[in-house]
Amino acid sequence: MTVKSARDARTLAPVGVFDSGVGGLTVLRALTAALPDEDFLYLGDTARLPYGTKSPESIRRYALQAAALLRERGVKCLVVACTTASAVALDDLAAELAPVPVLGVVEPGAAAACVATRSGNIAVVATESTVRGGAYQAAIRRRRPQAQVTARACPLFVALAEEGWTDGPVVEAVVHRYLDDLFAGDAPHPDTLVLGCTHFPVLSAAIRRVLGAQVAIVDSAETTAAALAVVLDQAGLRRPADQPGGRIGLLATDSAERFARVGGIFLGRPLQPADVEVVDL
Ligand code: DGL
Repeated sequence: MTVKSARDARTLAPVGVFDSGVGGLTVLRALTAALPDEDFLYLGDTARLPYGTKSPESIRRYALQAAALLRERGVKCLVVACTTASAVALDDLAAELAPVPVLGVVEPGAAAACVATRSGNIAVVATESTVRGGAYQAAIRRRRPQAQVTARACPLFVALAEEGWTDGPVVEAVVHRYLDDLFAGDAPHPDTLVLGCTHFPVLSAAIRRVLGAQVAIVDSAETTAAALAVVLDQAGLRRPADQPGGRIGLLATDSAERFARVGGIFLGRPLQPADVEVVDL
């Protein structure tokens, strides 16, 4: 095979997308909307979810194993659609997969926050591990050095989302419990809330109801899709327009039935267990 035909073959490979569970499907949804001609292969490490309460060492090990499986399946690029893994292990993943490009969601999410804020007073909600590592706070301050960033761990949001409880009084009560002190009272409060975990966008209606219309609520999905388009173009990996794909493969490390039931909510269309291949890492 010539160098050119090898390159052409790579353009036809799927884009790999990885999360600890179904949360990354919120990112996949934006990726497929922005790049409808690409094929995607999604892996949710549902057997080991949540990542957000684990140590950096465990998160790094899990993420590297997931990435290795996607590389074996021949992905041309990897989107780490898990904020926790992006925050903790992006450099390791990029080093391990090179020359396959690796894209995280923290930088795109920070970019979205800095576009949305007027005051520079920004709140980030994320997993414990993401908050503790400080990657989101640092990414925002790199773009806007004067920004005042408050980060809050909201681990129960992950559990609610994985349960498919996306709205209603229980969700609102948890939102109040986590966020009231950040947004109530007379002191200047954040004008922007970053959903710094890819599980959280499915809770955004309840969060919006609690916070009211004045606070901008942003996530990393659309800016990640825009960043992926740039990465594919720069690497010469964009699928040729005369060979459109549009297929989505779904892999999970536990229960296809559960992944399909809850994942459909995140992806915005019904899924069947037969759509999901269970794999072992
Ligand atoms: N979706 C993952 C993230 O974006 C978090 C879920 C988990 O704790 O595993 O951080």
